[in-house]
Amino acid sequence: MCAALPYKKGLHGIDPYIPGKRLEEVVQELGLRKVIKLASNENPLGCSPRVKEAAAAALQSPSRYPDGGSSELKAELSRQTGLRPQQFVIGAGSFELIAFVAETFIGPGDEAIMPEPSFSWYGTVTKLQEGRIIQVPLTEHRVDLDAVKREITDHTRVIWLCNPNNPTGTIFTHGELSRFLKDIPPSIVVAMDEAYCDFVTGEGYPDTLDWIGQYPNLIVLRTFSKIYGLASLRIGYAAASEETADYMNRCRQIFNVNAVAQASALAGLKDAGFRETVYENNRQGKEYLYQAFEEQGLRYIPTEASFIMVRTGQDSETLYQQLLKEGVIIRPGAAYGMKEWLRVSIGTMEENRLFIEALRKVLKAPEAAGSLKG
Ligand SMILES: Cc1ncc(COP(=O)(O)O)c(C=O)c1O
Repeated sequence: MCAALPYKKGLHGIDPYIPGKRLEEVVQELGLRKVIKLASNENPLGCSPRVKEAAAAALQSPSRYPDGGSSELKAELSRQTGLRPQQFVIGAGSFELIAFVAETFIGPGDEAIMPEPSFSWYGTVTKLQEGRIIQVPLTEHRVDLDAVKREITDHTRVIWLCNPNNPTGTIFTHGELSRFLKDIPPSIVVAMDEAYCDFVTGEGYPDTLDWIGQYPNLIVLRTFSKIYGLASLRIGYAAASEETADYMNRCRQIFNVNAVAQASALAGLKDAGFRETVYENNRQGKEYLYQAFEEQGLRYIPTEASFIMVRTGQDSETLYQQLLKEGVIIRPGAAYGMKEWLRVSIGTMEENRLFIEALRKVLKAPEAAGSLKG
C-alpha cells in the first residue's frame, strides 16, 4: 500500500478541468465535413496579417531566449495608455495573470469575492492558494456591486470583477464602478478582468486604466486572445500601480511569454484597423443574432461582449449534443447554472447563419421539445 502523498490542501476542492471540444475532435468523432466552433469566444476573423508577418519573423530565432521583460511591448503599451512601462505585467494570457493576482495577495484562510456566474478561474486560483471564495449571485444577469460590497469582511483580500461579464455579456458603468471603488477599503484589491472590453458598444463603459493612479488597489487585466485574435499564443497584460506590478512580476517565471507572442502582440497593438474590422463584425453579428432570436421568440441577454446568452427553454446539454450533430459547437448554459440557456460566440456572418439554421432545426426536433417543461 502507498503512503498518502502530501498533496497540497488547496488542490482538494478543485474539479479537474474539462476543456471544450476541439473542432478536429468533432470532425473526427461525428464524421462531419463542416464544423463551426462558437464555444470559446475566439476571434472569427483570425488575426491581423501584420501579426502573421511579425510572428514569422520572430520564429527565425527560436534558439534565443525571449526578452524576459517584454520591454518593447511594455514601451508600446505605455505609449498607447499613458501609463509607465513599470506598471505592466505581461503574462501567458489572462489565465496566468489571474493566477499571479491570487499568488500575490491570497493566502490560507483569506477570502475573495466573485460574482456568480462569472469566469470560474477566479474561484480556482483562490482555492489553489487555500483561500475561500465567496460567490455573489448576479441580479438580472448583471454584476450586483452593492451585493458584492455587503460580502466584505476583515478577511477579504481580493474582489474579482469581470466587465463585460462572462457568460452574461453585461457591463457595469463608469458611474457604478466609481461609486463602488470609493467605498472599498484601500487594502482590498479590485481585480478587473476586461477580456472583452474592446467589443463594448453601449454607453458608459469605464476607462479603468485612467483610475489606477487614484486607486492603487485596482488591477486591470487585458488579453490579446480576443479582439487581437492571439488566443493560441497565450499573451495578455495586467496594468497596476508600479508597486503591485513589481510584486506580481515576482510570481512570474522569467521567460513566461515567448518571443513569437511578444512580437505578435506588439504588431497587433499597432494595427488599429484590424481591431476596427473585428469590432464591426461583432456588432453586426450581434444585431443579426438578436433579430434571429426575436423571430424565433427566444429570450436573450443583450451583450457587450463577443458572445450571447440565449434562453431556449430546453435542456442545454441535450441541445448542445444536438447542435454538435449539426456541426455547431456552442457552450451549454448548465456549466454556469443556467440550464435553459446556451452561450454562443459571435462568429462570421456565415457562421452566425449556420448556427441559426441549426438552432431552428434542433428546436423543432421532437427530442428537444419540452425537455425542461413541467
Ligand atoms: C473573462 C475571461 N477572462 C480571461 C480569459 C482568459 O483569457 P486568456 O486567453 O487571455 O488567458 C477568458 C477566456 O475566455 C475570459 O473569458
